[in-house]
Amino acid sequence: MIDRRGALRLGGGAVLAGGVLRAIDQGLIIPRDRPGLAAWDDWNRHRHSGPLALVSAAILAASPHNTQPWRFAIGRYGVDIFEVPERALGAMDPFGRERLLGLGAAVHTMALASTGIDRRAAVSLLPDAANPLHVAMIELGPEGQRTVPHPLLPAIGRRHTDRGPYRGGAVVDRALATLAGAARSDAVRIALFAADSARGRRFGALTIDATAAIAADDAMMAASHAWFRHSRRDQDRLMDGLSVATSGVSPWLAAAAAILPEQSAASEGRYWLDATRDSAVPTASLFGLILVPDLADRRATLLAGAAWQRLHLLATALGLSAQPLNQLPEMIDRQRQLRQPPGYARAVDALLDDPAWRPTFAFRIGHPLSPPGASPRRPVSMVIGQPARLAYDVGRAGAETRAQEAALARRLQKQAR
Ligand SMILES: Cc1cc2nc3c(=O)[nH]c(=O)nc-3n(C[C@H](O)[C@H](O)[C@H](O)COP(=O)(O)O)c2cc1C
Repeated sequence: MIDRRGALRLGGGAVLAGGVLRAIDQGLIIPRDRPGLAAWDDWNRHRHSGPLALVSAAILAASPHNTQPWRFAIGRYGVDIFEVPERALGAMDPFGRERLLGLGAAVHTMALASTGIDRRAAVSLLPDAANPLHVAMIELGPEGQRTVPHPLLPAIGRRHTDRGPYRGGAVVDRALATLAGAARSDAVRIALFAADSARGRRFGALTIDATAAIAADDAMMAASHAWFRHSRRDQDRLMDGLSVATSGVSPWLAAAAAILPEQSAASEGRYWLDATRDSAVPTASLFGLILVPDLADRRATLLAGAAWQRLHLLATALGLSAQPLNQLPEMIDRQRQLRQPPGYARAVDALLDDPAWRPTFAFRIGHPLSPPGASPRRPVSMVIGQPARLAYDVGRAGAETRAQEAALARRLQKQAR
């Protein structure tokens, strides 16, 4: 018969064996390739050329909870990007506003990448009134035009959301001016506040408050949890979502957490609140908002996403760290969805020079303590969709052929005279 102590010993052995098995499963004991990280290498090593290079850059863009809500159609004359509404964040993003911000970020990286393939690009946002999911069309000029590679191209493969503690201290004025200039469109404004200013302190307090509200909202936390990839198997298979590895904890703690049983949505909420209150807010140098006149305007939202992408790339190039802190805009949407009094929308008025401009994106910037890791991406081959460009390409090839025929006819006429 096994006594109590023996049973405990056996139980402890089972827990230990379970931990070892989990450690092997999570790739901690026998190192394995991480297929979700190959996309970074593909871009950094220029493995794709022509229009595919644009997609290779686009998939590295930021997206809410790393949902990667995009599909691309490639043609000889360019690339189209489509929204995939099924890759959604539910109660966390009830109007799909954040999804569109991520798509705007992807469009911006494509525009930048076009400067590296020697073809001029023209970007049209929402080009097809009959198909609102057609987010942007990027038309490429003929091959062989000399373009000057954009100085931010190398930052595309180095930009990572840094959720860890920062070093503190101010951001120098020259860097501030560079960051403030990231909007590049009259449809979008950027407001920056030093973390130790009155507005900075108010931003921090409101963000902590909004985090507590989200952590207490079961539907929001369930939506967030659905994009959390705890097991290494899911990370390698799905190549999207969030994980402990990019949550801002040290690599040692991330390895330890990977051995523990899967966290619940509620414990993720508690961790998020603690990290926001004790680390993200107190160690930031700068807070900021990206503002638009109308939160429901799809074009302005795309441009705001592009502004965030540019801002984060500029921060990366300046050696600064950045993290979106979107709890406030998320709670503004959530209160609207639930038809509750707009408490968070009114509270942010105190942060704005002109309350007619509304915050669609919130973030922090600071000096890094340790380099943030890359998060997974589905590779180019997995995000190329239906040949939706075909009709457009055929039309454009037809127009080009007709123009060449007309030029030939004119030349023949001239020769005949
Ligand atoms: C619209 C939008 C909202 C986001 N909100 C948050 C946020 O509130 N907190 C956070 O840590 N990251 C946030 N992110 C960052 C994404 O989680 C991140 O871009 C994604 O996981 C991919 O990781 P990467 O940026 O390191 O490539 C947001 C990104 C976008 C585009």
